[in-house]
Amino acid sequence: MKFIILALCVAAASALSADQISLVQSSYAKVKGHSVDILYATFKADPSIQDKFPQFVGKDLEAIKGSAEFAAHAGRIVGFFSGVIDDLPNIGPHVDALVATHKPRGVTHAQFNNFRAAFTTYLKGHVDYNAELEAAWGATLDAFYGAVFAKM
Ligand code: HEM
Repeated sequence: MKFIILALCVAAASALSADQISLVQSSYAKVKGHSVDILYATFKADPSIQDKFPQFVGKDLEAIKGSAEFAAHAGRIVGFFSGVIDDLPNIGPHVDALVATHKPRGVTHAQFNNFRAAFTTYLKGHVDYNAELEAAWGATLDAFYGAVFAKM
């Protein structure tokens, strides 16, 4: 069953139109430099995500936001996500890498979904988020998340 879901998600990513890929890539380019703010929005929306990080657990989010450690981690997450967006529609290797590193950490689907929601809210506040863009991002994130969830 999981294999069928995975095959459908990879097919869904391949089914993204060239226009959709270009909309996603050009809108992402406007926020990819905002890694600290994106990680901050994610931790704020779901403190249980912050608590998974040994270096951040129990700390005041407002205080750690300006630290070099926070910036370094934000850069790693957003850098990884940039790789996914740059390589669309070829999500396979990125899915495998994320599952290999995050499944053993016990990251839940709910936490991943909360990252998605926080990122989407952030994007909406920083680009002209019209219906076309919403559909393109929806299709991209459905494909990526569907493939990740089929493996974890
Ligand atoms: C939403 C729930 C998530 C949780 C709870 C989580 C948790 C973690 C933890 C605990 C680490 C290790 C940090 C360290 O040792 O310094 C980590 C590393 C990392 N995470 Fe996540 N993560 C989540 C989502 C994501 C997402 C959505 C991405 C990419 C789009 C991502 C990309 C990375 C990368 C690139 C690293 C560094 C490499 C590694 O150690 O695996 N994470 N994550």
